[in-house]
Amino acid sequence: MSLNADYTDRIPNNVDLRGDRRLQRALEAWQPRFMQWWRDLGPDLIARDVYLRTAISADRDGWAHFGHLPLEEYRWGIFLADREPDRRIPFGEHMGTEAWQQVPGEYRADLQRLLVVQGDTEPASVEQQRLLGFTAPSLYDLRNLFQVNVEEGRHLWAMVYLLHAFFGREGREQAEELLMRHSGSVDAPRILGAFNEPTRDWLAFFMFTYFTDRDGKFQLGTLAESGFDPLSRTCRFMLREEAHHMMVGTTGIDRVVRRTADLMREHDTDDIKRYGGIPLDIVQRYLNFHYSVSLDLFGGERSTNVANYFTAGLKGRWQEERRGDDHRLTDATAVVDVVVGGRIEQTAIPALTALNQDLRSEYFTDCNHGVRRWNRILEEAGVDQKLSLPHHGFNRRVGAFAGSSVTPGGALVDADAWARQQAEWLPTADDFDYVHSLMKPVFEPGRMAAWIAPPATGINGQPVDYEYVHLT
Ligand SMILES: [Fe+2]
Ligand SMILES: [Fe+2]
Repeated sequence: MSLNADYTDRIPNNVDLRGDRRLQRALEAWQPRFMQWWRDLGPDLIARDVYLRTAISADRDGWAHFGHLPLEEYRWGIFLADREPDRRIPFGEHMGTEAWQQVPGEYRADLQRLLVVQGDTEPASVEQQRLLGFTAPSLYDLRNLFQVNVEEGRHLWAMVYLLHAFFGREGREQAEELLMRHSGSVDAPRILGAFNEPTRDWLAFFMFTYFTDRDGKFQLGTLAESGFDPLSRTCRFMLREEAHHMMVGTTGIDRVVRRTADLMREHDTDDIKRYGGIPLDIVQRYLNFHYSVSLDLFGGERSTNVANYFTAGLKGRWQEERRGDDHRLTDATAVVDVVVGGRIEQTAIPALTALNQDLRSEYFTDCNHGVRRWNRILEEAGVDQKLSLPHHGFNRRVGAFAGSSVTPGGALVDADAWARQQAEWLPTADDFDYVHSLMKPVFEPGRMAAWIAPPATGINGQPVDYEYVHLT
């Protein structure tokens, strides 16, 4: 198979679409519907062109190509990472046998469900972010928003390709429905709760790309281990694009924190609203919100579904191959939290049913890197306050802590006490109003809104004041 994309095709791809006329026709029929969706629910701000990275092949060096182009001319394509010769299933009851190039009949329904749930999040985030362009704090940020948007669109293509190529008529129907459900729709909402909330402001956008996109990174990491090889290769390629989304979130929050810290030091006060900055306690409340709703995306601490997916070889653990155990876990146990009699306790359960928690704890470790980074920025600026991740029981709707009232510090309290202090922990209407009042567009090359520091470097070696977007 050629790993270079065929760019003369209507749908750029490295899966030899030309060799499968039926599949090619089916995807070419889906393409105008995708474009219609993009026009209806994609970014609402019209830009003449945007300095975008486009995936044009899956090889290590040549996969990303930069240039200005109108958003609608972005070439959404289908790219899978290189096929590993003789790849073996790395876990579960089929461990050591050859990875599947076709869907095993007995796992068809489960695999399809995994693809649909993953696929549904991709267009959802584009829908959630569609109005943000109007209030971008700089052209650099506007470009990054659009880059994330087109790539989430490409991730939808990635899942739709798998549905079309391997799941027959049902797969094609599911691909249609991915364009019918809409974020926040009353009648046909997106599947997962966190993807039905609009992303109202840029602080929320940076928190979303840091915390919620990072859930995506971890889910893709588990699917990259899948015994179903086309899914594994698809996800391995998506993870490379995801790295940019993580960068947008990490450095976005870096820059907010840096600006906040500079204003606090300069004016020797925490109350930096009058100087147009975002006070640290508001940053902390946004962080509390986005982290806790993102934890819900990992599902409950006990799950027989996830045990079945693992045993079947469909969905592995984060970095499965680096784990030092037997990769089957049939006799292993794991400790999970339970709330009993007004106390948080630990109990041992079969490790297979605790795999959601296993992934969540990998995610926690990763999230903490960001917090340490931001605290270093505060420290370097001479501010002695710190940011922190709230306890994993805080503000949860899913799992062991759903229905319990847990403080950010991890104390179980009664519902009234929690409600009384909620305004200290989660963004208030006043916080939203204040942050929204700062959301004024800055579209002059190199200039930044007053609430955010400039980035340390530009994109692809370009200067920060490069004209990343030409507006109409
Ligand atoms: Fe994505
Ligand atoms: Fe993403």
